[in-house]
Amino acid sequence: APVTIANGTQFTDPNGEPVHAHGGGVVKVGEYYYWFGENRNDDNTFRYVSAYRSTDLKNWEFRNHVLTQESDPELATANIERPKVMYNESTGQFVMWAHKENGQDYSEARAAVAVSDTVDGDYAYRGSFRPLDHMSRDITVFVDDDGAGYMVSAARENYDLHLYRLTEDYTGVAELVANPWPGGHREAPALFKRDGVYFMLTSGATGWDPNQQQYATSTDLAGGWSEMRDVGDATAYDSQTAWVLPIQGTDETAYLYMGDRWAGAWDGPVNESRYVWLPLTFPD
Ligand code: DGJ
Repeated sequence: APVTIANGTQFTDPNGEPVHAHGGGVVKVGEYYYWFGENRNDDNTFRYVSAYRSTDLKNWEFRNHVLTQESDPELATANIERPKVMYNESTGQFVMWAHKENGQDYSEARAAVAVSDTVDGDYAYRGSFRPLDHMSRDITVFVDDDGAGYMVSAARENYDLHLYRLTEDYTGVAELVANPWPGGHREAPALFKRDGVYFMLTSGATGWDPNQQQYATSTDLAGGWSEMRDVGDATAYDSQTAWVLPIQGTDETAYLYMGDRWAGAWDGPVNESRYVWLPLTFPD
């Protein structure tokens, strides 16, 4: 049944508590969409990755703080940004990738990995590293139709966007597959596939302030990527990409843009950020 989302608001759970899944991503398990994202301390350091679930994408039930400051000593003081969870069919495990910093500055530029046997269980932290020694900041993940897992992250001080193929269990990096827009200075990647075409949606790099989102397409993750082209208005309706959720209906698959309206733009803490969700349309 149709539901209405109030854009530009802090979503609340059935108890009236704000939903903190900033910079997040969604994985579908059975009839539930599970939404994971940042839930930060007042000083914006890492507090939790929190998980919520919904069947209708409007009513979100809090499930668990799946990663916490106690999950590992290196998370006691840290920044964990843009956590994304993917399900590995062959291992039956849920694997989380996130951008990790030390909580003081932005110099580590590492990717962090955590795993769980259940979607909203306590995730075991596997540590953080620079993928193939590359800097790694804004991050996303993607599972292809053939089961191959990919991680995308901003490299070289955010000037490049790297596509990595993951190891079979999704917990490591196997190969740098492509660096399609060197010098492009793009952040906030979201990668999805529609009718055999891969779409990479990104933002520019202006801190917490919104900017022009752009997208590129290819029929091959490893090459043949188009240039980045503008999409939406000049500020993505005052938001930045977090995730694109394919929603499989009975007749067609729709694609939901999930963006963050970061409170940092008005000097607020991340946990006061709003959500902006919009339908993506395709000209052909
Ligand atoms: C832009 C990134 O996309 C966000 O995730 C966040 O790291 C801000 N920069 C911080 O300025």
